[in-house]
Amino acid sequence: MLYMSSARSTIMLARKFVLKKAFDGFPKLSDFELVEETLPKELQDGEILAKAEWLTVDPYMRLRSKAGEQMPGGQIARVLQSKNAEFPEGSQIVGGFGWRDLTIYKPVKGGVRTYNTIHQMPDMKGLPDAYALGVVGMPGNTGYFGLMDICKPKSGETLVVTAAAGAVGSTVCQVGKIKGCKVIAFAGSDDKLKWLKDDVGVDHAFNYKGADLDAIFKKYAPEGIDCYFDNVGGEFNYHVVRNMKDFGRISQCGSIGTYNVKGGQIPLVPFDYPTFRIKHIKMEGFNVGRWNDVWFDGLLQLRDWVLEGKIKVQQSVTDGFENMPQAFIELLEGKNTGKQIVKA
Ligand SMILES: NC(=O)c1ccc[n+]([C@@H]2O[C@H](COP(=O)([O-])OP(=O)(O)OC[C@H]3O[C@@H](n4cnc5c(N)ncnc54)[C@H](OP(=O)(O)O)[C@@H]3O)[C@@H](O)[C@H]2O)c1
Repeated sequence: MLYMSSARSTIMLARKFVLKKAFDGFPKLSDFELVEETLPKELQDGEILAKAEWLTVDPYMRLRSKAGEQMPGGQIARVLQSKNAEFPEGSQIVGGFGWRDLTIYKPVKGGVRTYNTIHQMPDMKGLPDAYALGVVGMPGNTGYFGLMDICKPKSGETLVVTAAAGAVGSTVCQVGKIKGCKVIAFAGSDDKLKWLKDDVGVDHAFNYKGADLDAIFKKYAPEGIDCYFDNVGGEFNYHVVRNMKDFGRISQCGSIGTYNVKGGQIPLVPFDYPTFRIKHIKMEGFNVGRWNDVWFDGLLQLRDWVLEGKIKVQQSVTDGFENMPQAFIELLEGKNTGKQIVKA
């Protein structure tokens, strides 16, 4: 499919997904277009040709995609041809090539890790490759550093986590348990709550839909909440703040609760300033790229916790590169448990 022969020459075609027009509300299949791109026949010095094996869909793509451009994102790819000794033929890489199956790329030697750079697959020590886009990848580091550096959880403290059965949230819950916290998790379906309680090992799990949050916190965190890992934004925060302890810490990671609003107008939400102030609460937003300099420390720590059985992993796998839009839509609809991933 990817290599087409004609009588005179061989041309190489990559497939890629382009966003036809800016999303409005929830993404639709008709927002995407699968197009072909002709690749150069020869690699230049320093270049590699890589073929996607696993691709990730992540909530940030809802915000970072641009009309008329290729969808952004990471993938695990196999090097098919190489003119770069650092990335030899046959090796696997993790790269921010976007939603495309074949890529020619010239890695920057010794460059600092950024959103778009590539790196060799971490030594997975037998764990499934796809984990390098999940718990041993960007979402894992988001949960790990976002919790450890901002909430700074201590043993015996109470930690609340939203979107808790997702890629980031399930990591946060389990790092919280490793650190000795009482973990109260929120997710959107019975199956997710069961997984959180039975496998992930949280202390309490609740469906946030229609929940009386104030009553839940009064009953299950009567001592007050120390840490909140906020994946959803919106009104949830208001109820957490009112039930926090003095010097509580909020790690503001994401706001998926408002990514799909129609018209792109982020709704105004209440914020309890007096309680926030009187309780000396701290809220800090972050982008995971701020830990690029210690990126691999995070990945390898998470990998080892998975190997030791301290972190349980679940993936929702969609088959086929052509089904990326569907996988992305299902992620935003909350159909995934654990990391939503696409097998090319
Ligand atoms: N700051 C950073 O650098 C950074 C990096 C990575 C991710 N993030 C953020 O972290 C959050 C989680 O990302 P992820 O990759 O781990 O995705 P994920 O949690 O695996 O998947 C998204 C989940 O969000 C939940 N959700 C969807 N709509 C919701 C709503 N209206 N209210 C509450 N929950 C909703 C759904 O689960 P339910 O069934 O529970 O609703 C869905 O499964 C996102 O906000 C993302 O943008 C931030």
